[in-house]
Amino acid sequence: MKIRKAVIPAAGFGTRFLPATKAVPKEMLPIIDKPTIQYIVEEAVAAGIEDLLIITSRGKDALVNHFDKAFELESVLEHDGKEEMLAAARGVSDKINVHFIRQQEQKGLGHAVLYAKSFIGNEPFAVMLGDDVVVSDKPCIGQLMEQYDNCGTTVLGVQKVGMEHVSKYGIVDCEKVDGRLYELRGMVEKPKREDAPSDIAVLGRYVITPAIFNCLEKTPKGAGGEIQLTDALVMLAQKEKMYAYNFEGKRYDIGSKQGFLQATVDFALARPDLKDEFSDYIKSIVNTI
Ligand code: UTP
Repeated sequence: MKIRKAVIPAAGFGTRFLPATKAVPKEMLPIIDKPTIQYIVEEAVAAGIEDLLIITSRGKDALVNHFDKAFELESVLEHDGKEEMLAAARGVSDKINVHFIRQQEQKGLGHAVLYAKSFIGNEPFAVMLGDDVVVSDKPCIGQLMEQYDNCGTTVLGVQKVGMEHVSKYGIVDCEKVDGRLYELRGMVEKPKREDAPSDIAVLGRYVITPAIFNCLEKTPKGAGGEIQLTDALVMLAQKEKMYAYNFEGKRYDIGSKQGFLQATVDFALARPDLKDEFSDYIKSIVNTI
């Protein structure tokens, strides 16, 4: 079955970015001039996703406003013939159907994904975390969708992170099948280095079968007292085959300050309108560090 729908859980508190995230959702913090969430929605559009559900929470209405039509602004820009700015203001809103639902209490990523149950119905779907941005030639979620077309079951987006970082991620126990594809044996959320089965981490992109909802309904609170998507996936892996795919591309954890800074610098250096002046600046300060 074709993957048509995606879910972006974006209801978290974003405490690592306080005080900025007190009134501004972390997904609205811009990498240069575009909110983080828009890069993710553009990835979904590029992969051919038709319907998108963004899970929000109280105080995150800016996300809803961002994907709405800015009627007055667009009229003024149109009247003034400012085509480039008009296109920037319109963004991706007319390329994909964006829906919203509020998670009433932030009880974890698994709990947030469960809010998508009636939107998804009985079809496989994509999950894209609201604070992971991936730069790649082929859209990251599109790579996983392609794998799903071949294997017809859940595919997790993974990359090696190095043993020193395993305690920050869901880590998979898996066996290489072919090229970049692994068959999953198990998975553990944020293991200690000595308990980690590998350094292959799940990094914010998933294609999941609808059987996950039944698992999520039975998943008790796990690490951090939250309902963890990883725990539900472990349950699902006992019922269905599951794969992990080592996707191509550079992934940035925008939810962390280091990831956010790295993305800002890399994105600026990749932008033709900013590159020259900005790289001159970087070169000028390099010796002072
Ligand atoms: P994180 O733990 O990275 O996000 O969750 P957070 O809780 O917003 O960040 P900090 O740690 O307080 O800074 C991973 C993803 O799951 C979503 C987040 O929005 C993020 O995209 N999430 C998390 C929810 O949608 N609901 C939750 O209850 C928890």
